[in-house]
Amino acid sequence: MNLIDGKATSAAIKAEIAAKVAERTARGLRAPHLAAILVGHDGGSETYVAAKVKACAECGFTSSLIRFESTDQEPLAQETLLAEIERLNNDPEVDGFIVQLPLPRHIDEQAIIAAINPDKDVDGFHPVNVGRASIGLPCFHSATPAGIVELLKRHGIETKGKNVVIVGRSNIVGKPLAAMLMQKGKGADATVTVCHSATENLADYTRRADILVAALGRPHFVTEDMVKDGAVIVDVGTTRVPDASRKSGFRLCGDVDFEHVAPKCSWITPVPGGVGPMTIVSLMQNTLLANERALGE
Ligand code: GUN
Repeated sequence: MNLIDGKATSAAIKAEIAAKVAERTARGLRAPHLAAILVGHDGGSETYVAAKVKACAECGFTSSLIRFESTDQEPLAQETLLAEIERLNNDPEVDGFIVQLPLPRHIDEQAIIAAINPDKDVDGFHPVNVGRASIGLPCFHSATPAGIVELLKRHGIETKGKNVVIVGRSNIVGKPLAAMLMQKGKGADATVTVCHSATENLADYTRRADILVAALGRPHFVTEDMVKDGAVIVDVGTTRVPDASRKSGFRLCGDVDFEHVAPKCSWITPVPGGVGPMTIVSLMQNTLLANERALGE
């Protein structure tokens, strides 16, 4: 069994991005600028956004964190959020921005995503980017799937002709990953199956996977009997489970029963330190691309 080291890979890519940014700013070009909108105080979202701001600093980017309060007593008006999106759409100093999800339930998430200028949609969530990705045109790819594809490439893991089984059909991971891996070309060319909560006899599918991606958000859901000998396992799960021995009071738990599955695999991503760090690095790659496009480079 070999570990797919997302932490080391993401560090290497961040160094590559930082070198490119340093070279560009030395030529007098403006550094990439990522803005993030955070509504409320969801624990996971706070952590992710803080990690994105930190990664911006490591890559030599400018970042802006825009916070809105929203409580049951004083819910944030959707119009306020839409007005901020419009302001960022028109701010020539901002190359790309994200609205951290999930949003409070009273806000229409799809209406918010649709309001983002696709040219600044570095999350790749806007229907224009989703559509372009599905037909293989240049676009901003959703960060987690892009990170997974990059991890496989950089570890020399072949996808061409392989059976890839994805468990989970989310708009953020399962669906866009399927679209990317089924395209023609390097790092793709796979035969992709997407399984979900209504799939019958799930293990019949997962046991056929050369590459199995678990992205359903249920701790330790994938057990050793569901995995073929020698398979590659990509674990996207990051559920917070209570752990009194940690200062934070929780630990991150993957969707794969790592202890029992790992001995059967050729490659496997750990949690944490696998897919998670790659997601953030993909967002940095998208923001650099947005900056290059904005400056006509
Ligand atoms: N929530 C969970 N993952 C993501 C992500 O990649 N982008 C945004 N904006 N919100 C998320």
